Amino acid sequence: MTKDNKGTGKSNQMWGGHFDEMPDELLQKINASISFDNKLYKEDIQGSIAHTKMLVKQGIISTEDGNNIADGLMRILQGIEDGTVKFKTEFEDIHMNIEHKLKGLAGESAGRLHTARSRNDQVAVDFRLWVRNRIDETIADLKNLRRVLVTRAENDAATIMPGFTHLQSAQPVTFGHHLMAYYEMLTRDQSRFEDARKRMNQCPLGAAALAGTSFPTDRFKTASELEFDAPTNNSLDSVSDRDFALEFLSAASITMMHLSRLAEEIVIWCSAQFKFVTLSDKFTTGSSIMPQKRNPDAAELVRGKTGRVYGSLITLLTVMKALPLAYNKDMQEDKEPVFDAAETLQICLKVMAGMLLDMKVNSENMLKSASAGFATATDFADWLVRELNIPFRDAHHITGKAVKLAETKGVDISGLSLEDLQKIEPKITGNIFTVLGVENSVKSRKSYGGTAPDEVLKQVKKAKEELK
Ligand code: ARG
Repeated sequence: MTKDNKGTGKSNQMWGGHFDEMPDELLQKINASISFDNKLYKEDIQGSIAHTKMLVKQGIISTEDGNNIADGLMRILQGIEDGTVKFKTEFEDIHMNIEHKLKGLAGESAGRLHTARSRNDQVAVDFRLWVRNRIDETIADLKNLRRVLVTRAENDAATIMPGFTHLQSAQPVTFGHHLMAYYEMLTRDQSRFEDARKRMNQCPLGAAALAGTSFPTDRFKTASELEFDAPTNNSLDSVSDRDFALEFLSAASITMMHLSRLAEEIVIWCSAQFKFVTLSDKFTTGSSIMPQKRNPDAAELVRGKTGRVYGSLITLLTVMKALPLAYNKDMQEDKEPVFDAAETLQICLKVMAGMLLDMKVNSENMLKSASAGFATATDFADWLVRELNIPFRDAHHITGKAVKLAETKGVDISGLSLEDLQKIEPKITGNIFTVLGVENSVKSRKSYGGTAPDEVLKQVKKAKEELK
C-alpha cells in the first residue's frame, strides 16, 4: 500500500515548485539513490568547491556567498566523516542531501551554489573523480602485486617444475619463469588502467543539464581546480558519457580473469595430489569435519569473485545500451556495479599479494613431478635433429619409440641404457644423456623470454627496473 499524498499541499523541496503533491512512497523508493551514492560525498563536495571558486572568480556570485558556501561544505564534510551528518531518503541522492544541509549552514548563499550547473554534470564529475581515485588505488595495488611476483620469481629462478599444456606435463620450466608470466599479465593490466585514466581525465562539470550555460563560466578553471587535463568538449556527451566507468570495469574484468587463473593454479598446486606449494595458516581455513584439511579459500574466492566483476561490466554495458542523448535516469544504475567491482578488485589484489608472499614452495615435489611424465622427450628429439641431422618429424617418431620403451620398462627416458637407445636408432651416442635431465633441459632454453634460469633472472632485472 502506498500512502495517499493528496492534499498535503507539500511537494518535493528541491524540485517540486510546479508540483502540488508529494511523490508516492514507491516513487521515492525506486528513485532514491542515497543508500549507495553516499559513497560520492567527498567527490561531490570537492566538485562543488571547485565550482564555487569558479563562480566567484567569474563574478557570477559574490565572494561573500562563495565563502559561505565553501565554509558550509567543509563543515558538512567534517560532519559526514565524524558521523554527525545523517542522510535522508527524502532528499533522494547525495547531491541534494548535501545541498539541503548547506541550506541550514549557509542560508541564502546555499541556493546560489547550483548556478550554472545541474545534477547531470554534477553526478558526471563526482563519478569520474571517484573512478579516477579507484584507478589510482588499483595501479598502486597492481604495482605491489607485481613487486611480490618479481621477488618470488627471483628466489625461484632455478626451481624446476613441470610446465603444462592441456594440464598434461609438457616440458620442464622454472617456477620463477611461471610467476613472471603473471608479472607480464599484470603489467599489461596496469597499463590498461593507466590508459583509461588518461582518456577519462577531462572534466564534464559546467556542461550543466545538457546544453551548456548562458552564464560566463570558465570551465578550464574548474577542470584544472579538479586536476583534470581539460574540460570535455561537448556538453551533451559530457552528461551522457559513462565510457570511463566501462573502461574501468573492462580493465577490472581482464585483471580479475588473470587473477582467477593464478588462483586456480594455486588451488591445484596446493592439493594433496600436487603439493607444489603450501599456503600459510593466514590464508587457508580448516574443515569443521575433516581434520586433515587446509582449504585454499582465499584463492577460491578470488576465482569466484571474478564472476561478479564480469557481471558488473555486463550490467553497465546493458544499462547504457541504446540510451538516447543526453542524461537518462537509467544512468543512476551506473554506480552500484562500479562500486562493487572496485571493492572486489581491491580486496582480490591485496589477498593475492598476501597469499603469494606467505606461500611456501615445495621444490622437491616440483622437481619430482617435472622429472616424471617424459618431460624431456622434446630435448631428446631436438638432440637427434641437432647432432644427427635427422629431420624433426623423424626425430619425433624415434623419440616416441623411446618413450614407449621407457614406459614398458617403468623408467624415464634417461633411465634407458645406451644399448636400448641404439636399438631404436644406431647412431645415438652417450652424449644424448647430457640433455636428458630436467636441469639440462631447462638450462638449454635460453632463447629470449625462455625458461632458462639466466633468462628468468634477466627478466627479473628488467622488471625491477620497471618497478622503480
Ligand atoms: N542521482 C542521479 C544519478 O545518479 C543524479 C542525477 C539526476 N539528474 C536528474 N536530472 N534527475 O544519476
